[in-house]
Amino acid sequence: MKRLQLRRPDDWHLHLRDGAMLRAVLPESRDFGRVLVMPNLVPPVVTGDQAAAYRERILAALPEGQPTRPVMTLYLTETTDARDVARAAADGLIAAVKLYPAGATTNSQSGVRNIERVIPVLERMSEIGLPLCVHGEVTDPAVDIFDREAEFIETVLDPLRRRVPGLRVVLEHVTTAEGVAYVQAWENIAATLTVHHLILTRNALFAGGLRPHYYCLPVLKRARHREALRRAAVSGDRRFFLGTDSAPHPVRAKEAACGCAGCFTAPVALACLAHVFEEERALDRLEGFAALHGAAFYGVEPSEERITLEKGEPWQPPAQLAAGDDRVAVFDPGFALQWRVIP
Ligand code: NCD
Ligand code: ZN
Repeated sequence: MKRLQLRRPDDWHLHLRDGAMLRAVLPESRDFGRVLVMPNLVPPVVTGDQAAAYRERILAALPEGQPTRPVMTLYLTETTDARDVARAAADGLIAAVKLYPAGATTNSQSGVRNIERVIPVLERMSEIGLPLCVHGEVTDPAVDIFDREAEFIETVLDPLRRRVPGLRVVLEHVTTAEGVAYVQAWENIAATLTVHHLILTRNALFAGGLRPHYYCLPVLKRARHREALRRAAVSGDRRFFLGTDSAPHPVRAKEAACGCAGCFTAPVALACLAHVFEEERALDRLEGFAALHGAAFYGVEPSEERITLEKGEPWQPPAQLAAGDDRVAVFDPGFALQWRVIP
C-alpha cells in the first residue's frame, strides 16, 4: 500500500457552468481548495458585477463542508472597461482575465477579434500585476487544427508579450512541445497543464471509431507533444501547474453530429495525476505541480490543509453523473484507477 500526503491542491482552470450543471459538477471538485472559474457562460461573465453574482451562485451551490473556494475570472471583450477590471481586482473578486480569441472554443463568440482593441486593458493589467489567462489557439480555418497553438504563439502571443512586456500571462492548457519551450524561455509566462493532455494522444480520438468524449480544445496532440508536457509537469519548474480544464457537457451535446469540445475530468483528476506522476517516477513532484506552483504564481499562500492519496485495489468511477435532466460522462483515462483520495 502506497500513501502520499500533499497540501490540498488547487485547480487553476475549471469550468463550473451554471444552474443544474453547476450543482452536479461542483461537488466533484471536492478535493481541491481554490478553483479558478472560467467565465465562458452564455452570456459570458464580462463585468465585475457579473462575476460577483456568479460567485454567489457558486457559493450557494457549494455543499456544506466542501473546502473548495471559487476564484473568479473576467471574460475579455473588445469593449471591456479597464476601470471595471481594476476595481474587481482591487476588491479581491477576480484573480485573472481570460482571453478567448473569438471562435476558438466553446462559447467564445464574444471573444477578441482584434487584439489592438484590448491593449489599453492589458496595459492596465500589467500595471496592477493582474494575470491574463490565454486560450492560445488561432482561429483561422486555413490553419491546420493541430498547428493552431504553435501558430498562436508565433503570431499573437509573442508580439503581445513584446508589446506589453510587464503583462503576466498564463498559457492555458498548453498542449505542444512548442508551447512548453516558449514558456520555459520567458520569465513572465506560466502555463497550466490538463490531466487529459498528460494522458492521451490524438490517437484516442479515433481508437476503433470516433470518440466524442475525448474531443476537447485545444485538440489532443501526437505522442511527442504529450512527452513534452509530461517532462514539464514533473520538472519542478514553477511555471507549470495544474489547471484541469474539466469541462462538462451533456452527453447529448457530445454524442452528436457536431459534438462540442470538453472533457469532464474533475471526478478522477487527482487519481489520474497520481497515476501519471507514478509512471514518471515523480510522485515527489506532485505536490509542487498540484498545490504549490500555481499558488505561488497567483501570489497566494499554499493550503495549510493536507490530503492523502492512497494506492490500493482498482476502483471504478461512475461512467456518468446526472445533471438536472441531462447526464455528463466522466473522463475515462483508459487505465484502471488505483489511487484515490481518502477522507
Ligand atoms: C471548454 C468548455 O467546454 O468550456 N472546452 C474545452 O474543450 N476545453 C472551453 C475551453 O477551455 O477551451
Ligand atoms: Zn477551459
